[in-house]
Formats: sequence, C-alpha cells, structure tokens
Amino acid sequence: MNKKSFLDLTVFDSNSLREIIKLSDKLSRERFLLGDVLKQKIIALIFLKHSTRTRVSFEVAIRELGGSAIFLGRDELQIGRGEPIKDTARVLNGYVHGIVARLYGHDSLIELAKYSSVPVINALTDYNHPVQILADLLTVYQEFKTFKVKWAYVGDGNNVARSLVEAASIIGFELYIASPQGYELEDEFKEKYRNFDFIKFTNDPILSVKDASVIYTDTWISMGQEEEKEKRISDFKNYMVSSQLFSYAKDDAIFLHCLPAYRGLEVSEEILEGERSRVFKQAHNRLHTEKALLWSIYSGYLSDKILLK
Ligand code: CP
Ligand code: NVA
Repeated sequence: MNKKSFLDLTVFDSNSLREIIKLSDKLSRERFLLGDVLKQKIIALIFLKHSTRTRVSFEVAIRELGGSAIFLGRDELQIGRGEPIKDTARVLNGYVHGIVARLYGHDSLIELAKYSSVPVINALTDYNHPVQILADLLTVYQEFKTFKVKWAYVGDGNNVARSLVEAASIIGFELYIASPQGYELEDEFKEKYRNFDFIKFTNDPILSVKDASVIYTDTWISMGQEEEKEKRISDFKNYMVSSQLFSYAKDDAIFLHCLPAYRGLEVSEEILEGERSRVFKQAHNRLHTEKALLWSIYSGYLSDKILLK
C-alpha cells in the first residue's frame, strides 16, 4: 500500500485536519493558489456507483492542479465483468499516478489500496465518506470561524455518519447522531468512541437538534439499498428535518446535506431551500478541499506532517 493513500480521516490529527481546512479556505478565495503540482500526472477515477459532486469536483481539481483524469465507470472496466480488484490495481499501477475510487464494500477499497503502489483516495464506500466531511468542516468553519459548535446529524447510521464521528473525535466538537431504532451505527463502531463524551448516539431527533448550530442529514436510502426503499421510508418517517424540528436549533443554525437530497423525505423543501441552508456552498467546497488534499499528497509539502503521521 502506498503510504499516502487516504482511506479515512484517521490519518489526520487535530492540527493537521484544521490545517488542511484552513488551506482549503484560502483556496476558496484564490482558486489557483497551489500551481500545477499534478503536471504530467494522470489520476484514474474508478466509480462503481453514481456520482455528480465527487466525480466532477475531483476531475476539476485534478485539472486545475495541472493533471489529467481518466474516468472509469462500472461499464468501462472489466471489474464489471468480474475481474478482481487486485488485478485491476496492479495493472493501473503501471499507467497512472493515483486512483480515486468509489466502491461498494470497504474491503474492496482496502484490497485496492493494498495492491496499489500509487496513492488511493476513498471517494465513498458503503462504510465511510471522508472526502465529504472535509467539505462539511470547511463549510462550518466559514460560517462560524470555529469547528467547535454543536453538530446534530439526524438520519441513517451510514457512511456519512461514520466519517462525521471520526471528524468529531479528531477535532473534538460536540456531535449528536440521532437515528431510528434498527438504523443506528453498529455497536462495534460506537464502542470505539465510548470515551468521547462529546459524541452522543440517540434515537431522539429533538434531543440531538436542541441548541445545535449545525443540522445535518443524508438520504434514508443509500446507493445499494434501493430494495429497502419502502420499508426505510416508513421506518424513518419521524426523522425528517422539517421547520418544526429545526426550530429546536440555535437561531443562527445552518442546514447541511451531502446531497443528493430527497425533498419530503429526509428534509423538507422549506428547509433545503431556506435561508439557513448551506448545501450548495457545501457542495462547492468539495472542490477546494479535494484540491487541498491532492496537493498535500502530491507536493510532499504536508505529507510528513499530515498523511504519514
Ligand atoms: N455528496 C456526494 O458525494 O455526492 P455525489 O454522490 O454526487 O458524488
Ligand atoms: N449515504 C449516501 C451518500 C451519497 C453521497 C450514499 O451512500 O448513497
């Protein structure tokens, strides 16, 4: 495995995570600040699931850093016909300088990284979504000039929720995760965070949102769960982020959603389109944070400090 691979947020400590977010903030004002660190570098984007934000923001980030991207969807690759990921990794090693991968099982990502001599960046698995949380942190930092406000995530105990918990444990912000019974994060995961008393897991959405500054949700039906749609809609019905639920938050609270959003399910139209919503800024921040991440991997400038902790 290449030591610069980015599979989850735990490669960061608190200082290095803050540092990358502050660099991203600068990039949001000065888009070409970092030069062409990816000059003559080609990055493969393996996407076995759909994507709008992650795919486009990575492609733009790679190009703006002077590199080129090759998009490889499920239908383009022999993976779609059963070629093992470890063989794909060893073939791509000879062609490209990095791989951004969106896969189903997290084990496949670990296998890909294990057999890759080039850096592998996690673009979402069923288990986690660390590059999303970089953009979320930037959005909160830009709004409040600190990360240390109360965050409430209301919804499925899924990939986004896991990466949020990781971020909270690294930076030390208060985080409530409120999920319906049967959709909580698994006990084994929660056990790892038992000693972090500022991270709370509950079934009570009102308790989670009370006096929070950041209200966050995600789809109730993640990619790969389409067959459970009807049951999930019924089981999650009391967890919509509506104006009523939002009224328990602080007056200056903001609404975040990684998108795509399903109006009338996990969030009401009124909240998504309302004046406290920052979802499009959050989506735009994907570009700045991914550029900072790529730059830190390929420039070597931050690698000793951040990625090889
Ligand atoms: N939030 C996010 O990762 O969006 P995409 O699925 O469109 O990439
Ligand atoms: N939890 C969602 C996130 C989409 C960006 C999914 O995995 O489909």
